Amino acid sequence: MASRRIMRYLNDDVLRKRSKAVEDFGDRTLMLLRDMVETMYAANGAGLAAVQIGILRRIAVIDDGTGLIKLINPLIVEATGEQQELEGCLSIPGIYGIVKRPQSVVVHAQNEHGSPMELEATGFLSRALCHEIDHLDGVLFVSKVIPGSIINEKDLEAWID
Ligand code: CO
Repeated sequence: MASRRIMRYLNDDVLRKRSKAVEDFGDRTLMLLRDMVETMYAANGAGLAAVQIGILRRIAVIDDGTGLIKLINPLIVEATGEQQELEGCLSIPGIYGIVKRPQSVVVHAQNEHGSPMELEATGFLSRALCHEIDHLDGVLFVSKVIPGSIINEKDLEAWID
């Protein structure tokens, strides 16, 4: 297992590229997943997409504090309601902004062995799923941010108080 370098917004063009579907569920994918999980936890993140460590494959890992979720080839099949919350990204450190997301989503994906899975999520997890799945299409939260809502690390402390 190894923690890998996280691609950064403005420096690493790969972040704007579309990731390819995963067809191989062998050791390579399992090793990549392990590295992604380690990288996410080492960076204290709530989610990480493979493209964020430079691998253009449709894989994301999320931990919203209730447990680790590994998603391969995830797809939002249903989105309902709306939420507007502050979002950040390991690839855009120190920058936060309010993004409009569905309040609830249903996601279809495959697990690490290739078996189909379905996930229903609301609130923070819904937002995290949308954010990570956007990464797989080369979309960063800053392109969806509500105008004027971008803040930096210092503002964040005031926002939370
Ligand atoms: Co992100």
